[in-house]
Amino acid sequence: MATDISLLGELAAATARRRTFAIISHPDAGKTTLTEKLLLYSGLIRTAGMVRGRKGGKVTASDWMGMEQERGISITASAMQFPYKDAVINLLDTPGHQDFSEDTYRTLTAADSAIMVIDAAKGVEAQTRKLFAVCRLRRIPVLTLINKMDLPGRPPLDLMTEVEQALNVHASAINWPVGSGSEFAGIVNRIDGSVQLFSKTVPGGAMRVKVEDLMPADLARSGRLSQDVSAQVQHDLELLEIAGNPFTREQFLQGDVTPVFFASALTNFGIESFLDAFVQLAPSPGARLADGDDGTELSVDPLETPFSAYVFKLQANMNPKHRDSTAFLRVCSGRFERDMVVKHHRLDREVRLSRPHSLVAQERSTVEEAYPGDIIGIINPGLFAIGDTISLTGGFNFKPLPQFQPEIFARIRPSDVGKRKAFDKGVWQMAQEGTVQIMRNLNDQESLVAAVGRLQFDVLQYRLRHEYRVETVLDQLPFTCSAWLEGDPTTFKPPSASMIVKDRRDRIVVLFGDQLMKTIARDRNPDHQLRDMG
Ligand code: G4P
Repeated sequence: MATDISLLGELAAATARRRTFAIISHPDAGKTTLTEKLLLYSGLIRTAGMVRGRKGGKVTASDWMGMEQERGISITASAMQFPYKDAVINLLDTPGHQDFSEDTYRTLTAADSAIMVIDAAKGVEAQTRKLFAVCRLRRIPVLTLINKMDLPGRPPLDLMTEVEQALNVHASAINWPVGSGSEFAGIVNRIDGSVQLFSKTVPGGAMRVKVEDLMPADLARSGRLSQDVSAQVQHDLELLEIAGNPFTREQFLQGDVTPVFFASALTNFGIESFLDAFVQLAPSPGARLADGDDGTELSVDPLETPFSAYVFKLQANMNPKHRDSTAFLRVCSGRFERDMVVKHHRLDREVRLSRPHSLVAQERSTVEEAYPGDIIGIINPGLFAIGDTISLTGGFNFKPLPQFQPEIFARIRPSDVGKRKAFDKGVWQMAQEGTVQIMRNLNDQESLVAAVGRLQFDVLQYRLRHEYRVETVLDQLPFTCSAWLEGDPTTFKPPSASMIVKDRRDRIVVLFGDQLMKTIARDRNPDHQLRDMG
């Protein structure tokens, strides 16, 4: 009994320390730089500049694929674990690129919170909006970091308003910048009124910055600020006091308010206090909803339910030498131990979880134990599909992962008809992994591939060539959006430039030439529902 209590205490303590999150941003806002600074301030690296690689390229944990290196981007998402002060951070890598993929969306479902990085000169950009929408749907609390304050940017008050209006969320400034651009010198903590002034130690922010802690009254006297800067800070703070949104952690956890921080990831100004606030505010792993085998909905508590996890990502052929496949699992409850025998709910059989691994920075290492919030990779001999639940007790399945609305569609065929078998196998495997979705035309049963971004098609063709030795011909179709149709398809009045198909779960999907056609279809068919996420 004593042992049980101490194990429970260990589980509770380990769970409370976990912060599992993702960074959402538009490419170039500073996600890679912030990740690197997290590693710097966690003590994992001593100088920044390691994560970024060759000029124009980036080396991240997932940078293993030839194509990523060729194109200098990181395509696949995985996770890194490292300690930060008293917390254990699990950072999910959500690749940022103009053409991003469903993987990015799905990875977010494994996060308990998100950091939204916004470029102070550009404000809220397209990809940030899309990713924020997924966070909202999943009720994932979001912290906002307004980055690049050391460059000329937009006035902080404007940026606050834009966050609120573009994302339809309340924004509450937790800190406020002292100066901006070349005069960016520090931050005021609006919670306790303290001020931090920074000075660079080495160029490029390779090392921690020097911090001088002051009280507001000392700020003017410090002589470090011009009169204009002092007056502006004073003015903004007074305005915020009257017109700003209040902040409570409860509202943040509900997704109703986003706390806003100003910083410069490159120069490290404001980064440490942001990371400290993140660790304090972001939630540790909580209960997750599941469907019980008896049809009831239940909540899986991280401490009370013995080990359970679900598969949020599959990746085949990660290592070209071994041609293995990895299933990435998010631990939802209980303690995981290496070689554990667990129930695989969909297959209704037991499986042994041998050779589990995790990624710490760029190193792959074997996992002996894991706790709620942790991500583990398991060698997958074809047993796992996306969304699968595994657990010690059985009896429930975590809610299915949402399927996202594809925006590009294509016909694809092997150039050499003799390669049909290998082609079918490859496309099937990649649909299993979620690289693309497969759809069938209702009329002629022809198969189509669908994706959220063009990059997914590039990955499909690249992997068919390299892993299945099949060259392919891809014809993109003239559709740019889609929706799941609910209601009788025979009475649905489609607009012009549309096509009706079925997805792999046999649900009806309508493809549209553009958003306007979708709006027309909604107006014309009031008895039908057109849903954006399935
Ligand atoms: P991403 O992962 O979101 O795509 O962005 P990343 O961190 O790669 O940053 C994009 C560019 O913005 C990089 O410059 C980076 O150095 C710069 N940057 C990031 N944060 C800040 C900041 O706070 N201040 C300033 N001034 N610049 C910042 P680059 O020229 O594209 O790359 P590099 O040549 O510096 O490696």
